[in-house]
Amino acid sequence: MAKTSICIATISDKASRQMAHGLWRAGQVVAVPTETVYGLAGDATQDAAIRRIYEAKGRPSHNPLICHVASREMASDYAALSPLAEKLIAAFWPGPLTLVLPVKEGKLAAAVTAGLPTVALRCPAYAPFRDLIADYGAPLAAPSANMSGHLSPTCADDVSKSLGDRISLILDDGHTELGIESTIIGVTDDMITLLRPGSIGADAITTACGRAPMDRLDGTITAPGQLKSHYAPRALLRLNAATAKIKEIHIGFGSITGNMTLSADGDLVEAARNLFAVLRAADASGCPTIAVAPIPKVGVGLAINDRLERAAAPRGELDGPTGASNMT
Ligand code: TXA
Ligand code: MG
Repeated sequence: MAKTSICIATISDKASRQMAHGLWRAGQVVAVPTETVYGLAGDATQDAAIRRIYEAKGRPSHNPLICHVASREMASDYAALSPLAEKLIAAFWPGPLTLVLPVKEGKLAAAVTAGLPTVALRCPAYAPFRDLIADYGAPLAAPSANMSGHLSPTCADDVSKSLGDRISLILDDGHTELGIESTIIGVTDDMITLLRPGSIGADAITTACGRAPMDRLDGTITAPGQLKSHYAPRALLRLNAATAKIKEIHIGFGSITGNMTLSADGDLVEAARNLFAVLRAADASGCPTIAVAPIPKVGVGLAINDRLERAAAPRGELDGPTGASNMT
């Protein structure tokens, strides 16, 4: 699996796009930008490609992957779209909304869904990646392009530092626009469930489909990515900190300036975009604890708090960086 050199190529370059297509056809993986975070993409119909994604990330094979499609039509080849799903697709695709839908048997590599009867599908808003999928003609499985349990990457350099010795190509397009992973909604015939908050909020979803998403029942884990400790830096985190204590580095927001800030203007969209880069920078300071200013629990602030709470959760659960099972 180990590679000696990695190529970081601009995504708009024709030769690099052809190289990506060739690698996907050969069952290899390529890191790509999306509007949320960078993903590690492989052909979702090839068992070898899916095995490589799990291997490169050190991801437990029972944690299913999101498949990226170019259109509603491509989605309908792989999953059953209920009228409720159609409404959500019409309102939010292309965009940062992942739908967990009943999978059509036998079309995707079995490991993509980790044995579940459902598949997570998303049609990215970021056009260069969406066009790549359309030209390729098959869905691409792509989890975030980081070692399992670590912070999601928002630029090519993050990917390179996390997975650089395990992959051969990163398509680069600078910093991602949104900076936080997609909203995930479970959809059945008559019910929707919020599985992961993101930039698209529950209110917009309710307006679009006339139904409010249920919160995932406490303690019900339908996929291991929902485990508490999932987005962890090395340092410990202390949340809702108006001031820092000794030996802490302080991440500010709005009027709380801190040593660095998510958004000096108190802008939640800017804070989401900066979240993982600022957590990385705070971690690199070497301080044993990162104190984070309170972030309002409204709009995308709910998703920011979700990621911060997971990063602050006790370590040692399956996906955590101190769990011996999958970290190297
Ligand atoms: O924005 C995003 O969603 C990014 C970009 C690359 O598209 N991808 C991403 O993938 O965040 P990943 O693998 O890091 O997170 C996918 C989450 C995991 O928590 C996984 O457990 C959950 O989706 N998931 C995948 N398939 C599922 C399913 N069938 N049922 C429930 N959860 C599922
Ligand atoms: Mg991830």
